[in-house]
Amino acid sequence: ASANVDAGKAIFQKQCFTCHTVDKGGPNKVGPNLWGVVGRKKGSHEGFSYSSGMQAKGGEWTYEDIDHMIFKPTAYIKGTKMAFAGLPKEQERADVIAFLRTMSDS
Ligand code: HEM
Repeated sequence: ASANVDAGKAIFQKQCFTCHTVDKGGPNKVGPNLWGVVGRKKGSHEGFSYSSGMQAKGGEWTYEDIDHMIFKPTAYIKGTKMAFAGLPKEQERADVIAFLRTMSDS
């Protein structure tokens, strides 16, 4: 199936919103605000204190990198502060990333 933005929004609200806002100018919570995160420099959101593993990562968040991150954060980033088991279902990850893509200026 192709990615579904509405399904991704529902998954985000259930699984991610407890730690992340995603609206423009929204506050950091346990995790950084995710407005415009697709294409954003990793570990760069103002006012958020990232783990050293996250800071060492470098580059921008591509689709593939976010897919890896939310599949299993602890496998993707050594010592990550993102205490989330991950989304094992590929379709759910595709839906969430499709939703994240809509939450952006570009
Ligand atoms: C970081 C996505 C769930 C806490 C990140 C980043 C992304 C992301 C893309 C990197 C942001 C950046 O570089 O600025 C998601 C998605 C989730 C989710 C899509 C749901 C599927 C959670 C949950 C928590 C959490 C439930 C809290 C229990 C964090 C923290 C960081 C982070 C603390 C910073 C990681 C570090 O510095 O090592 N998240 N997240 N996230 N997230 Fe999540």
